[in-house]
Amino acid sequence: MKKTIRDISLKGKKVLIRVDFNVPMKDGEITDDNRIVQALPTIQYVLEQGGKLILFSHLGRVATEEDKLTNSLRPVANRLSELLQQPVYFVPFTRGPELEQAISKLKEKEIVMFENTRFEDLNGKKESKNNPELGAYWASLGDVFVNDAFGTAHRAHASNAGIAANITDVVSGFLMEKEIKFIGEAVNNPSRPFIAILGGAKVSDKISVIENLLTKADKILICGAMAYTFYKALGYEVGTSKCELDFVDFAKSLLEKAKGKLILPIDNVLANEFTPDAQTTISDANQFPTNMMGLDIGPKTIELFKNELKNAKTVVWNGPAGVFEFDKFAVGTKAICEMLANLKDATTILGGGDSAAAAIQFGYENKFTHISTGGGASLEYLEGKELPGIIIINDK
Ligand code: 3PG
Repeated sequence: MKKTIRDISLKGKKVLIRVDFNVPMKDGEITDDNRIVQALPTIQYVLEQGGKLILFSHLGRVATEEDKLTNSLRPVANRLSELLQQPVYFVPFTRGPELEQAISKLKEKEIVMFENTRFEDLNGKKESKNNPELGAYWASLGDVFVNDAFGTAHRAHASNAGIAANITDVVSGFLMEKEIKFIGEAVNNPSRPFIAILGGAKVSDKISVIENLLTKADKILICGAMAYTFYKALGYEVGTSKCELDFVDFAKSLLEKAKGKLILPIDNVLANEFTPDAQTTISDANQFPTNMMGLDIGPKTIELFKNELKNAKTVVWNGPAGVFEFDKFAVGTKAICEMLANLKDATTILGGGDSAAAAIQFGYENKFTHISTGGGASLEYLEGKELPGIIIINDK
């Protein structure tokens, strides 16, 4: 068990809080503030306990001076301030006198947020390469370290591992605690039947997840374009569908290993082209016309999945069933949202990334037991890896 903010005294302490506020932005506006909203319980708790909050995060990747213009955390600080209805004092630097003075002036229950930690990457990738001087410097700014950035837990950077190496009290926030509890328990100690649903475009992205879950789950339902690589492995035709020819042999070996645990779509919605208003038809697996591509699972597959899921006690879902960005091909993904929303007494966990974005967009935000804020991090956690951002947190 990892220590959390409940286990240490925060009153009057300078509390360094690493959050993952790497939110999607368009033209300087935040398009999805879920990661900020999910961090609020931790921030509010530390405020209530009388901590002095120093918040920081990365945002995007910063390789050039121009990247700084589009990757400032200032809009995020403004959004956080709106959500908390209290000032968040933003320091547009990652180090130096202005930051140090702002921190020394902090009173209990006040918040400073400093600039994108990856601005330090312009200076020899100091953040991403976990430069020891940088981790020690950031650690010197606070008394205790709260790591609530699950989305970044698969990285060992200066702003998580580097700080933790230089400070005694390293604890998790509530979001990190929740992610560890739900994803960790689902994978290591699930109530059964435990069904995984894996979608998305590529088998190659999910190799280790499939391999790990084959040893843990009772069934794995495959959907999204990655199903077509499995079709090829079975010798089926896939028309013009996306398919990873380099991974057909691997898919074959997985099918052999799976001994019936892997369930593939039995029908698909096909399109003549990859556009929102393409002409469509539905056909059974292995009935692809040569000039059509599969963009969603079909109605028989939806029924099949419903049946497979009906007694499930734990469900983990990662990756959409089709091209949900186009209405015509969102039916399968929506149907899976609906199936999981209606399951009784089941723990339903949605890995981050595209399927989480889809579920939130379709209004299912509060219908799952847990929607992970991690993309890469939740995938690596599902692969069974130990994540550096979790390892650094003190054990109870
Ligand atoms: C994410 O969005 O997956 C995390 O914030 C990590 O971002 P990164 O892939 O740029 O390290």
